[in-house]
Amino acid sequence: MKADPDVLILGSGIAGLSAAITAAEQGLEVLVLTKASSFGDTNTALAQGGIVGPAPEDSAPLLAQDILSAGAGLGYQRAVEELSQKGPELVQSVLIDQCRVRFALDESGHPDLAQEGAHSVRRIHHWMDRSGQAIHDGLMARALKLPRVHMEAGKMAVDLLTSCHHSTDEQDRYRENRAIGAYVLDVESGEVEPVLAPLTVLATGGAGQVFRHSSNPAVATGDGIAMAYRAGLSIINAEYVQFHPTTLYHRDFPNFLISEAVRGEGAILVNRDGEAFMDRYHPKLKDLAPRDEVSRAIYQEMEKRGDSHVLLDATRMHVDPFKRFPAISDTCRRAGVDMSSEPIPVVPAAHYFCGGVKASLDGSTSLPGLYAIGETACTGVHGANRLASVSLLEGLYTGVRFGQEASGYREKVRQSHRYAVPDWVSPEIESDPAHIHNDLSSVQGLMWNYVGISRTRRRLQRALADLNYLNHRIDRFYREARPSRALVEMRNAALTASVIARSASTNGRSKGCHYLSS
Ligand code: SIN
Repeated sequence: MKADPDVLILGSGIAGLSAAITAAEQGLEVLVLTKASSFGDTNTALAQGGIVGPAPEDSAPLLAQDILSAGAGLGYQRAVEELSQKGPELVQSVLIDQCRVRFALDESGHPDLAQEGAHSVRRIHHWMDRSGQAIHDGLMARALKLPRVHMEAGKMAVDLLTSCHHSTDEQDRYRENRAIGAYVLDVESGEVEPVLAPLTVLATGGAGQVFRHSSNPAVATGDGIAMAYRAGLSIINAEYVQFHPTTLYHRDFPNFLISEAVRGEGAILVNRDGEAFMDRYHPKLKDLAPRDEVSRAIYQEMEKRGDSHVLLDATRMHVDPFKRFPAISDTCRRAGVDMSSEPIPVVPAAHYFCGGVKASLDGSTSLPGLYAIGETACTGVHGANRLASVSLLEGLYTGVRFGQEASGYREKVRQSHRYAVPDWVSPEIESDPAHIHNDLSSVQGLMWNYVGISRTRRRLQRALADLNYLNHRIDRFYREARPSRALVEMRNAALTASVIARSASTNGRSKGCHYLSS
C-alpha cells in the first residue's frame, strides 16, 4: 500500500472518487481503499435515476425549495442553499467537461432531462437507467490518469486511529485528539496493518444492508457510521432511513431497484385488483409524491389487503421501455415480466440513509483530521427525507469541496509530529461463519420488522433491547476471533442498527421517513 499518503480515503463511490481527484489535483498524495474486490461495487455505480444538474427551467431557489420540502422542513437551510447554488454546475464542469461522463441528449443535442418524485421541473441528467455506472466509469477513468491517486481494492478499514487513544507517545493523550488514519484489513490474507495519514476521509456509503430488504449492494453495512461512532463522533438524524417504494418483488433479484424515473415517465402503482391507489393517499402528486409517502401508501395497501406486493403498471409510459430503461427491462425479462405489456411486481425496500456523521459540506467533522462525505455524512441537506437524485449531487459536491480545501488542511498539520501506533494483535481463532450469518440475519430481521417503514413505540423499544443484547454478544465474539470482512461488516451493521433504533426510539414525532403509527 502507498506509505505515508496525505489523504486516506475509505470508499470509492462518487464522493470518494471526486475527493481523490480534486485533492490529487491540489498536489496531495491520495490513497483510496475499497473493501470490495472491485472499485465499482458501490451504490453510486448501481444508481439508475441520475443526478440533479443544470436545467433551463430550474433555479437555485426552486431547487432549494424542492429539497427542503421533500426533507419535511428539517433540512439545514444554509447547506441546502449552498448545494443548490453551487452543486449543479459541477455536473457540467467536473463530470461532463473533466471526466467525460456521457449523459443522454435529446434529438437537438440538449440534455435529455428526467423527472422524478417531488421535483418541480425536469432537472435530472441520466444515462438511461445506467446513470451511476456512467458516472463511476468517468470518475474512475480520470482517477486512474492521476499519478497521485493510489487505489487498492480488497482493503477494509477496521477502526479509525485517533492520536489520544492509539499513539505510542503517552504525551499525546494530553494533546488535541485527532484522526491519524485507520487499521486496515487485507481481506484476502486476513492481516491488519495501520495506515497513517494526516487526513482521513470516510466515504463508505450507507447502511441499507442493516435491513432485510434493501436496494443497496452487499457492501452497504454502515462501516463509516460505526467507525465514527466508536471514535466518539455524533451521528445525527439516524432515524431517517429512506425506503424506496419500488424494488422488484422476485426471489432471484432481491435488491433490484425499479427507478422512480419509471413513474416519472408515466408508470402508475396499482393494487392486485388493478386499482390505481395513489390518488387516495396523495391526490395532488399521486405516484410522484415524496418517496416516504409513496412507500407508506404501498405498505398500508399491502397490510390492509394482506398482499405481499403491489404492481407497477408501466405499460402506458410515454417512452419505449426497452430504450429508456434497458437495464430494468432486461432484469424484468429475466424475472419473467415483459414490462411493456404486463405490470411489474414491486415492494418497498431500505434505500438511503439520510442521517450520518455530523459534517459540513467540506466534510469537516468535530474530530480534527477526520472528514465525512457522501452518504456516510449528514450535512443536513436531506433533512427528514431525501429528494431523489440529490444524493449523487451531494456526494459530488462534498467530495469536490473536501478536495479543494484539502491542501489547506494538510498545511495546518504539516508541522505536527509523526505518530506511531502499536501493531494490531489478532487472536488465533477463526470466526465461525454460522455465527456471523445468524447474527447479521437477526439484525436485518429486527430492523425490518420493528424499525421499518411504519414504526411503533413498542416495536422500537423491543428492537433496542434486542440490539443491545446482540451488540454485547457480538463485541465479545469479535474480540475473540481473527478479523475477516464478514465479521467486521456484521459488527458494524449491528452497531449502526442500534444507533438507528436508538434515534428512532427517542424521537416521538413522526416526520419524513420516521413514521410512528402508535
Ligand atoms: C431511483 O432511480 O429511483 C433512485 C434515485 C435516487 O434514489 O436518487
